[in-house]
Amino acid sequence: MAIEYKPKVIGFLCNWCSYAGADSAGTSRKHYPPNIRIIRVPCSGRVDPLFIVKCFQQGADGVLIAGCHPGDCHYTEGNFYSRRRFALLHELLSFLGITPERLRLEWVSAAEGKKFSELVAEFTASVAELGPQKEVENENREKLAITSSEREV
Ligand code: FES
Repeated sequence: MAIEYKPKVIGFLCNWCSYAGADSAGTSRKHYPPNIRIIRVPCSGRVDPLFIVKCFQQGADGVLIAGCHPGDCHYTEGNFYSRRRFALLHELLSFLGITPERLRLEWVSAAEGKKFSELVAEFTASVAELGPQKEVENENREKLAITSSEREV
């Protein structure tokens, strides 16, 4: 019997907006896939790039960072730092052989419970389509290694 693949998604949610948005999704009974493991952070700017790399290293299939809308950050500019870091992280993930689409940055306010549930559903589906991160990307890395060693010959 085949085991159904369920992607592991890690969600770093800022305490002031997105975490409250997730809470609002719950109180308004909006359903979203249970695949997401939520980690509450004080601000999206607190998410260190190493947290993301570590998540993928430990077998996460997708990582979602959600914070306050630009201009609404509780710490004024935390989400601007987050946005800049995100752009660099995309490059780094490609370099590491991880599909950059496995990482997503979104703005979700405390009043956007519906948006949060739709976002998690859509992101989980897109990650599921990419397949298990470790297996797929390891296969790609092996192919890359073979191709580069063939080039050397
Ligand atoms: S406090 Fe929410 S992104 Fe900074």
